[in-house]
Amino acid sequence: MTGSPVPWLTSLYHKSWRGNYGDSRYPGNCSGELIKDLLLYFRPKTVFDPMTGSGTCRDVCDELDIPCKSHDIRFGFDACDPKNYEGIGPFDFIWIHPPYWRQKEYTDDLRDMSGAPTLSYFLHRYQELIENCAKVLADDGKLAILMGDYSDREAGFVPLTFHTKRLCFGARLRQASTDIIRFSHGASSSHKVYRSSFIPGLHDTCMVFEKVR
Ligand SMILES: C[S@@+](CC[C@H](N)C(=O)[O-])C[C@H]1O[C@@H](n2cnc3c(N)ncnc32)[C@H](O)[C@@H]1O
Repeated sequence: MTGSPVPWLTSLYHKSWRGNYGDSRYPGNCSGELIKDLLLYFRPKTVFDPMTGSGTCRDVCDELDIPCKSHDIRFGFDACDPKNYEGIGPFDFIWIHPPYWRQKEYTDDLRDMSGAPTLSYFLHRYQELIENCAKVLADDGKLAILMGDYSDREAGFVPLTFHTKRLCFGARLRQASTDIIRFSHGASSSHKVYRSSFIPGLHDTCMVFEKVR
């Protein structure tokens, strides 16, 4: 037992229901339940979600009555462009759920991170994204990133959670809590039949960062 106001929020997260937030048909859509639990734990007054997809984070914020600014490349906002961060913030809580490189392709906009032709270009864009978010994070704010590792058809296994931490530490952020391993109940590799032999990845990882003081 801890004094946590959200005792079910632990390093292993396995709620199988996603809540009525966002659109479950949107590719890469995530459960709103984890976002809700993080917001109940950290109690931010302002939230920013620059890659909102189907609006899951925004819907959770609406329910909790927390002002939330949300954008996406689908609506013309490039979260990797520092100019788009001028005059906004600071935010108490930033939620980012970026593409897992090209595991799923979202739009044909050339600025879409999921269209990055190489891993090094993806990581360059990811670095810009993290640095931009760090700049508009309040001094006591939290940056929560949901990311997954995956096996790429050319590059092989891509440890994107490792790169997330490396890039955040490089942006003068430190990890604020344990990794939250989110069991992916709907992961396609859990029920598809594959010819090749590999160890299926059935989770992604939520990492929470804060500014180094
Ligand atoms: C994993 S999805 C987010 C899904 C969202 N969490 C939901 O529940 O619907 C990643 C999103 O990042 C967006 N995206 C990719 N590159 C972007 C960029 N450079 N700037 C802003 N959004 C971007 C994609 O359009 C996609 O909606």
